[in-house]
Formats: sequence, C-alpha cells, structure tokens
Amino acid sequence: MNQTLTILGLESSCDDTAAAVVRVGPEGAAVLSSVVHGQTALHEDFGGVVPEIAARAHAEKLDSSVAAALREAGVGFDDLDAVAVTAGPGLIGGVLSGVMCAKGIAAGTGLPLIGVNHLAGHALTPRLTDGAAFPYLMLLVSGGHCQFLIVRGPEDFSRLGGTIDDAPGEAFDKVARLLGLPQPGGPAVEQEAAKGDANRFNLPRPLLDRPGCDMSFSGLKTAVLRARDALVAQKGGLTHKDRADLCAGFQTAVVDVLAEKTRRAMALYRDENPPEPLIAVAGGVAANGAIRGALETVSSRHDAAFLAPPLRLCTDNAAMIAYAGAELFALGRRDGMDLAARPRWPLDQNSPAMLGSGKKGAKA
Ligand code: KG4
Ligand code: ZN
Repeated sequence: MNQTLTILGLESSCDDTAAAVVRVGPEGAAVLSSVVHGQTALHEDFGGVVPEIAARAHAEKLDSSVAAALREAGVGFDDLDAVAVTAGPGLIGGVLSGVMCAKGIAAGTGLPLIGVNHLAGHALTPRLTDGAAFPYLMLLVSGGHCQFLIVRGPEDFSRLGGTIDDAPGEAFDKVARLLGLPQPGGPAVEQEAAKGDANRFNLPRPLLDRPGCDMSFSGLKTAVLRARDALVAQKGGLTHKDRADLCAGFQTAVVDVLAEKTRRAMALYRDENPPEPLIAVAGGVAANGAIRGALETVSSRHDAAFLAPPLRLCTDNAAMIAYAGAELFALGRRDGMDLAARPRWPLDQNSPAMLGSGKKGAKA
C-alpha cells in the first residue's frame, strides 16, 4: 500500500467484543493494539452462545474496548483515517451493537465509516500477518465457520465449498460435552486423542464419497454419541481408554475429511496457476496439531507454502477488521449512516447460500 492508513476496527458479531488499531503503509501492516473481551463465562451454562446475552454484553463492553484500544496504541481519534466495523454475518444483536457504536464514532468525529464482512476479515489475515500475495487458498475452520475460499482481492472471493451443517469446532465442542470433557472442547479432545487408538471405532467420513469441497460434521458427532451409548449400555459407563479411543477416532475422521477436501480445493486453486501458491488457515480449529500437520502435508505435496497466522489473529479479533477496512479504504470504499447490519452476508455472491444456522448464528 503506498499510503499510510491508521484504522480503528470493531468486532462484535459473535461472542468476542473486540477493538483494535492497525497501521498499514508501504512497509507493511502493524497491529498497534488488539483488545478482545471473550464472553465464554457468560454462556457457559447454556451449551452455546445466547444471542440476547451476547448483544447486551457487547453493548456494555464496546466503548471501553475502543478506549482501551486507542490508549494501548497511543493514538487519539485525530490520528485515525477511518473506523471499520463488522457489519455481518453474525448474531444480529451483536452486529447491531458494533455498527451503532461505529456510526456514533463516525458522527462524532467525522471519520469515514467502513462496513466489513467478518469472513473477509479472517480471509485477509494472511496479508495482515505475512503480506501474502493474491491469489491464495484459505481454509477457514472455527467454531462457527468452515469454508474454502480462493482469495483474489479484498472484495474478490470464490467459495469452493463449506460445511452443510456443523462447523468442525462446533463438532469438537459437542463431542467434548457428550464425553464429559471441559469446554472449549477442541483442546480437551485433542489431548485425549493423543492417548487413544484411532482405529478402534469405525466412524464415518461424511461426504467423502461425494465430489466437491462441501463437508458435513453433524453425522460424525452423532456416530460418536451412538458409540458412547452402546458402551454405556454394555458396561454401564466409559473407561479412560474408551474416552481416549473415541476422541482419537473422531479427530482422525475430521482430519481425513479436511485433508481430502483440501486436496480437492488445492487442485481447483492450482488450476489458476498462482505465481506463489499458498494455503492459509484461520479459525480456532487451526490450533489442532493433527489438523495442521495434515494440511501441511497436503500443501507440500502440491508445492504450495502453508501459513497459519498466530492464534490470537486466527480467532475472532478486531485487528483483522481494521486491516480489511484499510484495504477497502484504499480501494475507495466508504459507507454512510445507512450502513446495514446483516445477519447473513455471503462472501461469494455467486455460490449457493449455506443451509441452516450454526450455534453462533447464520452460516454465510
Ligand atoms: O475461531 P474461534 O476462536 O471462535 C469462533 O468459532 O468464533 O474458534 C473456537 C473453536 C472452538 O470450537 C474450539 O473448540 C476450537 O475452535 N478449537 C479447537 C482447538 N482449539 C480450539 N478445535 C480442535 N483442536 C484444537 N486444539
Ligand atoms: Zn470468526
């Protein structure tokens, strides 16, 4: 980027209230501050994010998060070029809270306002962290999202496929719950899986027999539930070994599905002859060692580089929103006071909408 931009970003589309200041210039991008207030404790007793509770907590935390982000970055409103905010997709109460807060800042300071697609924030993170060149292949795997994207520009995405039901993180969380492991389930299941025998239970690899890059994880979770119930009926409970073997079987099934679908997505991406082939991941599930290992293997077989940004920028945060805002600002994008909060907002307008709605809101 040949100009230097300092952008305030706001994120409140799910269960993290976040504000950040990012500076982007000819030398690259720098995260000057990134404040994230998680809401896990507020939703713990409910088995998922409660939209009303989330929206209220965002409304309460946004202004202090903005103040903290400015303070930590050592900047004031006068030093900013624009305010960028997640305008969707997500839980509408939370998105509205963020959009209203950003509109208030824009009205009070005269700063330009930019509405950012939350998924574009994730998808552009490899450019924020590593200056990745377009086009690259992105696998977004979190508790709320799962999709393959070819990222060609700040507003140019092709969605190659995604989950038709649960996101992988959601499946890890549900499997943890049904095996009595703590939340968030991903790290707990991964830890158990390391001790288990992945071949003991014959668990399905959903949609592997169908062409394309779409995935499904809900049936796999149900298969774990059935295997658990069969063991309980047989001997009255689960041993440590049963639990570890179920975790290992489940995780290996997720790895197999993600690896095969990544191979297919990679083949489609390589058809475009990218000059610097790259596959990048984002989302909390990218923390899983077995999944990362499998993706690294697929990318090296296809002579592509593999990039996993630091976890704090892979999971929901506002630095990615500020950065995406900077890219859009440089393209001349400005929004007015009529900027709408959108519960659904597919990145790729040409691909069919995903079915259903995840625990963290509508699937885009
Ligand atoms: O991106 P993220 O922080 O939040 C949203 O989904 O919004 O991702 C959280 C998800 C949770 O479902 C969590 O269980 C999963 O990422 N996760 C993992 C691991 N660490 C976190 N899943 C598998 N293995 C892990 N090590
Ligand atoms: Zn997200």
